[in-house]
Amino acid sequence: MRSLIDIAELSVEEIDKLLDTANDIIANPEKYAHKCQGKKLATLFFEPSTRTRLSFEAAMYELGGVCLGFSAAQSSSASKGESVADTSKVVSCYADIIAMRHPKEGAPLVASMNATIPVINAGDGGHNHPTQTLADLLTIKREKGRLNNLTVGFCGDLKFGRTVHSLITALRRYENVKFVLISPNELRLPTYVRESLKKDNFEIVETTDLESVMPELDILYMTRVQGERFFNEEEYLRLRDSYILTPEKLANAKPDMSILHPLPRVNEISVAIDNDSRACYFKQVLNGKYMRMALILMLLGVE
Ligand code: NCD
Repeated sequence: MRSLIDIAELSVEEIDKLLDTANDIIANPEKYAHKCQGKKLATLFFEPSTRTRLSFEAAMYELGGVCLGFSAAQSSSASKGESVADTSKVVSCYADIIAMRHPKEGAPLVASMNATIPVINAGDGGHNHPTQTLADLLTIKREKGRLNNLTVGFCGDLKFGRTVHSLITALRRYENVKFVLISPNELRLPTYVRESLKKDNFEIVETTDLESVMPELDILYMTRVQGERFFNEEEYLRLRDSYILTPEKLANAKPDMSILHPLPRVNEISVAIDNDSRACYFKQVLNGKYMRMALILMLLGVE
C-alpha cells in the first residue's frame, strides 16, 4: 500500500506514466468512467479549499467512485480533540483512499503512518502540495511539450507557498531547468530548499524585480501572498501587493511564455491578462482533475 506525501516519492518514470494516463483520460474519458466503481474517497480537509477538494471529488466521481468527508476542522471530531492518527484509523474503516489537507506541516505523513489505506497529501501548512505539482507538470508538458530545458520564474510568496516548494522538488530532476526566484526579501524561498539547490549546483537567480528577468522566462509561476501563515497582520498588509502582473509588465515577455498560478488569485494577476494566450491558470485547474484521476488509479492499483 502506497501513499503520496512528498512529490519526490514518485520517480520521474512514474510521473511520466501519470502524465500519459492523464492524457489518455482526456482523449478517452469513457474508458475510465467505471474504473473505481465501488470505491470510496474520503476528503479530510482541516483547512479551506475550493479547487483541491472539489477536484479530488470530481476526479473520483468521474472514475465511477463515490466520496465522503468534511471540509472544515470545526465539522470534524478534531474540534473535540481527536488526533490525526485516530481520525485516520477511523476513516480507514469507511473508505479506500484519503485526501487530507491540514494546516500543520507533517499531518498527512502522520495520517499515512496510521491509516490502513493510501493517504494523499492535499497540502500541509507551508510545506508541500504534491497534487498541485502534478497539475502544474501536466500544464507545462501540454503547453511547452517538455519538462526539461526550461527557465522557470517563481514570483510572490516563495516562503509560505507550498506549491512552489513541491514544484521545485519535481522540476529539479529534469535536465537544464533554471530557477529564477522573484520575491520580496521577507518572502524568499526557505533556506532548506535554497541550500539544497545550491548544494547540487543548480543555477538559481534571486531578485526582487520581476520586470528585469521577464524576458528570460519560459514559465512564470505567480503565487498569492499566504496571509493565513503570517504571524503579523501589518507585515502581510505591507507585502501582499508586492507583485501585480499587468499587461504592461508582459511587454518584454516571450510571446510563448506560459503564466501559471495555483489559484486562488487575489490581485496578483490582473484580470486583463485572462484572455492573453499565455494565461494557463484555468487550464491548470482542469489538468489538476485529470492528474488526480491518474493518481487515484495508481494508488488504488487499478489497471
Ligand atoms: C494553493 C494551496 O492551497 O496551497 N491552492 C491550491 O491548492 N490550488 C495555493 C494558495 O492557496 O495560494
